[in-house]
Amino acid sequence: MSSAPGGAAGMRSLPSWGPLQENHASVAPRHLREIFADDPGRGERLVAEAAGLRLDYSKNRVDDETLGLLVTLAGEAGLRERTEAMFSGERINVTEDRSVLHVALRMPRGRSLIVDGRDVVADVHEVLDRMAAFSRSVRDGEWTGHTGKRIRNIINIGIGGSDLGPVMAYRALRHYSDRDLTVRFVSNVDATDFVEKTRDLDPAETLFVIASKTFTTLETMTNARTAREWSLATLGEEAAVARHFVAVSTNAEEVAGFGIDTDNMFGFWDWVGGRYSMDSAIGLSTMIAIGPERFAEMLAGFHAIDEHFRTEPYERNLPALMGLLNVWYAELFGAETVAVLPYEQYLERFPAYLQQLTMESNGKHVRLDGAAVDYATGPIFWGEPGTNGQHSFYQLIHQGTHLIPCDLIFFARGLNPLGDHHDLLVANVFAQAEALAFGKTADEVRAEGVPDRLVPHKTFEGNRPTNVLMAERLDPETLGKLVALYEHSVFTQGTIWGIDSFDQWGVELGKTLAKRIVPELQATTDPELGHDSSTNALIRAYRRRRG
Ligand code: F6P
Repeated sequence: MSSAPGGAAGMRSLPSWGPLQENHASVAPRHLREIFADDPGRGERLVAEAAGLRLDYSKNRVDDETLGLLVTLAGEAGLRERTEAMFSGERINVTEDRSVLHVALRMPRGRSLIVDGRDVVADVHEVLDRMAAFSRSVRDGEWTGHTGKRIRNIINIGIGGSDLGPVMAYRALRHYSDRDLTVRFVSNVDATDFVEKTRDLDPAETLFVIASKTFTTLETMTNARTAREWSLATLGEEAAVARHFVAVSTNAEEVAGFGIDTDNMFGFWDWVGGRYSMDSAIGLSTMIAIGPERFAEMLAGFHAIDEHFRTEPYERNLPALMGLLNVWYAELFGAETVAVLPYEQYLERFPAYLQQLTMESNGKHVRLDGAAVDYATGPIFWGEPGTNGQHSFYQLIHQGTHLIPCDLIFFARGLNPLGDHHDLLVANVFAQAEALAFGKTADEVRAEGVPDRLVPHKTFEGNRPTNVLMAERLDPETLGKLVALYEHSVFTQGTIWGIDSFDQWGVELGKTLAKRIVPELQATTDPELGHDSSTNALIRAYRRRRG
């Protein structure tokens, strides 16, 4: 098994780390105004393009030496070797002893990748074909409900990676979806989610897609049982389950145990991480909504960026550059967050999707060998679509005390041409990036006649870094490219930090404790409590108040 040569020993021990710190000492005091004045060509030079995505990274607080050192750091951390290890199916998820092969989910038909004696690409296409046949039958009305009525509503029940990807993709691609279908997503164990999403639906016209890699997740199983009761309360016979429930999972045994015929199950594999699964069978609801052809276009988009990431030198490699810049700000500038700001309403759930992708992947405090890191890892990702965010949290980005690198994403063509909306939208992207980088000096403010006492309030320090990412239009292929871009950026960062970006042990403790607490909440007589005094008091207070 290949390891991350430098990363596994710790980022600070990599040869380029010292020079990077020295470079930071010379770059950090410089303002982007000065950096641009000294290097007027950087707005055209520091641009990387791949597969129709254009990344302008010129408004970052870097010089050419920084970029060279970051690229060298990637080499020292073994990014190339680790990428090859991932693409060839090595078990780089060491704590779960698993391959990490989401890239196989979008390899074209006919390619072959043998892992443990199986051609995983052939397996992937076998499932894609079944998904396509099923999606077509639902879309054209051939697949009917138990009473013979046409299916009009698709409800995906899942959580985390079995929800966020499908919701994000459905919203992102609504323009391409069959508008006669109502597609909804239930994730929260809070009953309100299920009740509100089903209250106006007819069970006879409703298909549930139960999406869970493990098929044991508390929230999903609770909602799935409720869905079955809700359906059968109207449809009566148990036989109705076969027409109204399909499963997406790696766990055939649990699916059968739940009562779903495994003929109605679409499988995937343990080498697909939950947060890397929207292009696997977990995307079934997406495929039903947009159709198999569009889904295939999305996969082609993913694959284009996979190939770019795998082969392009890091100097021109979009995901590597974005990942390296995240490392630069997190480590050298102490930036704790990254804002992702899509200027595209259809991408409203993209930041939420990225939160799981980035933070469940890189929110780790130990390296692959279990040694504690002595540097910051995964920054906090957050964001909202523009221009809405401009009228809420941008104030803090412009004039607050935190340094927040921003990714501004926009498209040359809007999907709903209407008057001059799109030019106004895009003008705001450019204006924000310009304002964040260059700000407005006190002298400029004074020259506008602003009274002295207001000058500090109206001054914009600037020097706030941005990436500006452009594509032609938001379509399935572009969405695939965007997601793959961030997947590989996350991988780049995790490799530099020498951590396992593919496990998620940090979610376990809370789950275990909740299992212990449930019977304490439901006990008919006051239970003996052995928690800390706060938890004990909370349990007692809840039991008293809930009646
Ligand atoms: O709780 C975290 C997690 O394990 C995620 O990694 C995963 O995407 C989610 O739960 C859902 O898991 P499953 O698909 O097995 O229901």
